[in-house]
Amino acid sequence: MEHQSDLPLYRPAAPIPPQYNTRGVSWFQYLKQGANPLKVWNDRMYHQPVYMVPLGPVKIFHINDPDITEQVLQDKAGRFIRSRIQADSVDTILGKGLLAVDGDEWKEQRRILAPVFQPRQVAAFEDEMRKSTQKLIAKWTEKPPKRPIDIIKPTSQLTLDFIANALFGGLSEDNHNLLSNKTDQGLKRMPWLTAAQLINPFKSINRRMSELTFRRQISLLDELAEDFVDRYRRDPGQFENSLLARVVEAQEAEGRSVDKTFVRDQTATFLLAGHETTGKALAFTLYCLSVDKARRTKLVTELDREGENSVYLDYVIKEALRLYPPAVIVSRDTTEEMMLGDREVPKGSTVMISPWLSQRNTQLWEQSDKFWPERWGSEVLKGSRRYSYLPFGGGPRVCIGMGLALMEMKIMLAALLQSFTFDHMEDRPVEPEVAVTLGSKTGIWMKITHR
Ligand code: HEM
Repeated sequence: MEHQSDLPLYRPAAPIPPQYNTRGVSWFQYLKQGANPLKVWNDRMYHQPVYMVPLGPVKIFHINDPDITEQVLQDKAGRFIRSRIQADSVDTILGKGLLAVDGDEWKEQRRILAPVFQPRQVAAFEDEMRKSTQKLIAKWTEKPPKRPIDIIKPTSQLTLDFIANALFGGLSEDNHNLLSNKTDQGLKRMPWLTAAQLINPFKSINRRMSELTFRRQISLLDELAEDFVDRYRRDPGQFENSLLARVVEAQEAEGRSVDKTFVRDQTATFLLAGHETTGKALAFTLYCLSVDKARRTKLVTELDREGENSVYLDYVIKEALRLYPPAVIVSRDTTEEMMLGDREVPKGSTVMISPWLSQRNTQLWEQSDKFWPERWGSEVLKGSRRYSYLPFGGGPRVCIGMGLALMEMKIMLAALLQSFTFDHMEDRPVEPEVAVTLGSKTGIWMKITHR
């Protein structure tokens, strides 16, 4: 095995799955656990291929089997639509961006937007990724944080800094700060609609209110996108390195005039789908490495030798995304009755695939809850087994920003780890929870020291 190691294995923080009697999971348990599914999902859901959770009038089928997952996301994809749960929670915000549309409209958008995320385009943003990281490194070098800090904040700020600059090809400092603050404040209010909220009217009202507040917070996006299109029309040449310029060009390549609403909705989508996910993935990777200090030393030694090209860095990122997938649930609704495994699934049911559960499936993953990057030196996920590892989803709706996010993680982690040592404060344990994306209820508190 490449990178074979005799180093001991550690189990980074995760709730111990409760063991329930035959009645299984109920909405009452969701309510009791503050709607955090990680505390509700029981031990059987970590290996049972299909597990039905009756939440009042709604039937939710949890899938934890690579063959059935492949059927849902790939083979029978046309027989599903985005789930009501997902649609309700993001549509007001994302308008008709790629994440929020279905059917023929989705097909057309995906075709138009595919060239924007091709590897050659992603490579054009590598310097912007380095620039954003160096800004943070310079800040911490000039004024080292005296006390431990919750690392989720600076890593999310870092990815926001990058994606905002990449979208607009650079923003004025004022607009940049304004956008960062508004997105940050807005995201704090962004509603996370859990299954339990479907049947809780009070939560639903609360959610609608937070949606409105969120929409107000990010109305700045409408102005920025509109202004971008106007400036692009006047002088397209000034936007050589801009994701939005690629979006406009992709539209023009179709022989269409530029649609400002389309540009605005994709801006909101890329900003929101792209920055918090990647920011939290960075934070959890630094956390895993500080739980397992011997592997951190091993990685930093390789980084000093090989920089961003380190193979071990790839393994570490893959493993951190396995244990802490930022998108915890991928869900769909059935448009017709069908069999999934040995279960009859009625039309209109919600099917949930959780990367958290699949990637911790006790039948498929050896040492499923341990941080073991070396596994990726031998682990080849062949055929449908690939559908047991899906931090970026799978099938035709697989994350369009996957290549960009992985490149970002590589470049940012390599630079941060070469400059600083991140030590987790053990007296402030991490408590994974789902809040739009995977986070920690207690934060991820780190002492940061210059190497
Ligand atoms: C570590 C970082 C990221 C993770 C874990 C992640 C995860 C995911 C997942 C699981 C899906 C599939 C959702 C589904 O099937 O319902 C998805 C879709 C999507 N992601 Fe990402 N994502 C990340 C970064 C990004 C970035 C950087 C961007 C863009 C700048 C992005 C844009 C999108 C979009 C637009 C979709 C919808 C694709 C479609 O429906 O065709 N994501 N992402």
